[in-house]
Amino acid sequence: MKFSTKLEGVTKFKAEGLVIGVTENKINNGNVAALDKILSGHIKKTARTEKFKGKAGQVLSLNTLGMTKVERIVLVGLGIEKDITLDTARRSGAKGASAMRASGIKAFGITMAAHPLNSLSSGLLAQALAEAIILASYSFDTFKTKKSDGKIDLVTFLLEKESDGVAVRRGVEKGKKLAEAVCFARDLINLPSNYATPSYLASQAQKLAKGKLKCKVLGPRSIRKLGMGGLMGVSQGSNEPAKFIILEFMNSKTDKKPIVLVGKGVTFDTGGISIKPSANMEEMKMDMSGAAAVLGAMKAASELNLRANIVALVPTTENMPGGNSYKPGDVLTGLSGVTMEILNTDAEGRLILSDAIAYADRYKPDCIVDLATLTGACAVALGNHASGLFSTDKQILEQIRQAGEETGERCWPMPLWEDYEEEINSSVADVQNIGQRWGGAITAATFLKKHINKNKWAHIDIAGTAYTNKPRHYLSKGGLGIGVRLLIEFVEKRTKLKK
Ligand code: BES
Ligand code: MN
Ligand code: ZN
Repeated sequence: MKFSTKLEGVTKFKAEGLVIGVTENKINNGNVAALDKILSGHIKKTARTEKFKGKAGQVLSLNTLGMTKVERIVLVGLGIEKDITLDTARRSGAKGASAMRASGIKAFGITMAAHPLNSLSSGLLAQALAEAIILASYSFDTFKTKKSDGKIDLVTFLLEKESDGVAVRRGVEKGKKLAEAVCFARDLINLPSNYATPSYLASQAQKLAKGKLKCKVLGPRSIRKLGMGGLMGVSQGSNEPAKFIILEFMNSKTDKKPIVLVGKGVTFDTGGISIKPSANMEEMKMDMSGAAAVLGAMKAASELNLRANIVALVPTTENMPGGNSYKPGDVLTGLSGVTMEILNTDAEGRLILSDAIAYADRYKPDCIVDLATLTGACAVALGNHASGLFSTDKQILEQIRQAGEETGERCWPMPLWEDYEEEINSSVADVQNIGQRWGGAITAATFLKKHINKNKWAHIDIAGTAYTNKPRHYLSKGGLGIGVRLLIEFVEKRTKLKK
């Protein structure tokens, strides 16, 4: 997909289609009025009969029957101006792109209601729209022998004034790089586990390495030698060798402490000996969504040339039942030295993450942020519209929460009170890997906290937000690549590249 900009009025612009953003009850803005004059009021009349008022999410798609220089006009509602956020723009932009695609249109222009839109800068607005248009056009067709042919080739941003050009082009370029990194993460998640093995993730990480981005992969022997008992234990029931992926992007001053990102990379979670029920088990190919987010974020960071020091750590394995599997009652010793009694082999994510978190300590990090599809309980608590956010540091918690608001990848604070700790006290080891039934997302986070060595740390449970069976606006069916845009925004905030 290509993007361009053009300083041209809507009546002069020639293309297959044109998307126009309109605010609620003000659909007859300058752009619409100019076109409607040529169309003898066709837009206004259709809007009335189809009850299109410009509410957020509303779409009106019109064939111009050759009367204007564009064959199709799609109005997308933005809602009331004072409530419009970047995510409103993303969702509306996505609806516009989808409507164009549905009509088989491959090249269209886009213009939002009169600027400035609720004081959003034209650069940020353009970035958000470029992100959304690419993300809404995503589909996973690797295994379709007949590929879908409805791909969009060219999107032209119509400029209101020449002086917007630089900011819009810069915004579009950034949005494009971010969205492509999200699509990369989506592909990793959607790829079935017979292809997306731990070795495959490692090879993909290695392929990302260029310039300042360095990659190192540890195999089973090094993992064992280092003492990563959690990762070893979980992987021992699988025929696929475990990998520990290390990506380093040191693109800031050498004395600047790195931000360490950790992603759960369980390429398939059967539950192991504590096996899961078969219904919907196929979805457990998504249990490496944290890994996908972290790898996607590293790709984006390097392509955006962010002035930041970032390290990504990905422990990756399958969780399988087998003759060699770890079993309930087993005790594992993690890299942190903490001994862990296994009461349920399906609580495997925290075991492999604990080793990565302990390994992160070697970098004397500014902070550690892990992303994981860790608990069904988190999805029960927050549903599909927010990830669970836990942190030992108030500032980091706030930075991530804020990054979530701005990117539309919302995170909601959850507690880490000491009271939860006794639930994971074991009678035979330092900790046990599950607590009682209630508050499972919190006991999982509390388990991770036991492996933090004074570092500032945040944990984001994306079990409810990483994957969807019901596509909506810019979220496609399957893996969503959630966390890529969130992490980049957080890193930018944290490294003060942005206020
Ligand atoms: N990968 C799952 C969590 C999960 C569930 C992710 C649903 C996405 C959708 C995790 O490894 C798991 O199995 N967690 C258990 C923990 C329990 C055994 C304490 C769970 O949530 O049931
Ligand atoms: Mn599990
Ligand atoms: Zn899992």
